[in-house]
Amino acid sequence: MTLFTDMCDSVLNESIIGRARQAGKVEINTVDIRDFSIDKHRHVDDKPYGGGNGMVMLAEPIYRCYNSICEQIGKRPHLVYMTPQGKTLTQQRVKELSKLDNIVILCGHYEGVDERVIDELQPEEISIGDYVLTGGELPALILADSISRMLDGVLSNDECFEEESHYNSLLEYPQYTHPAVWNGREVPEVLLSGHHQNVDKWRRKQSIKRTYERRPDMLENAELTKDDLKYIEELKS
Ligand code: ADE
Repeated sequence: MTLFTDMCDSVLNESIIGRARQAGKVEINTVDIRDFSIDKHRHVDDKPYGGGNGMVMLAEPIYRCYNSICEQIGKRPHLVYMTPQGKTLTQQRVKELSKLDNIVILCGHYEGVDERVIDELQPEEISIGDYVLTGGELPALILADSISRMLDGVLSNDECFEEESHYNSLLEYPQYTHPAVWNGREVPEVLLSGHHQNVDKWRRKQSIKRTYERRPDMLENAELTKDDLKYIEELKS
């Protein structure tokens, strides 16, 4: 639910998500809140009571928009409101949300939305980080993208997410492609060896090293083997 459907469609029609939508692996509809305005000028916002800057989105068009979606699909799906006041999105929450059959995402704009529609609909409030954007569309696209790529058949085997950063609470190992020497910089020799076991070992170590150096907080949630723990002790010394 957005005031900027074209902005959302232009992103959702491209690349992996665009392809997945065409193949019917994920269905994403952008719904224009303005279509649910209740006056002939199609207003969707007004000045805040009590004064102050900017405009506040009206409760009624949002309420009608959500109810119309519910009527169309015959249930009342989980509602998410993108706001910097929400709980910060994590890969864990993305994984959980990807298991739901339907999700509706509300994109706020201007100075926010009338609090009463939040009280009425009780959405889950999600932030994409401690910074403020001009609207909820980019955050909603981030959420839609991160959920979609977890769905069956959206990523090909080549694009599989199981080795990626954050999937196992570890950052991903560094990647290299052709040429083998670029600007005098060589690809790590083990990757050219064709020895899969050694490659796997090297990658695991790189993952752990990166996580230890850049995001040590993540290691607490990672599943680590005895060898991993030994390696971390080596890194510490
Ligand atoms: N809208 C504006 N800024 C936002 C943020 N950081 N997260 C979610 N929605 C937002």
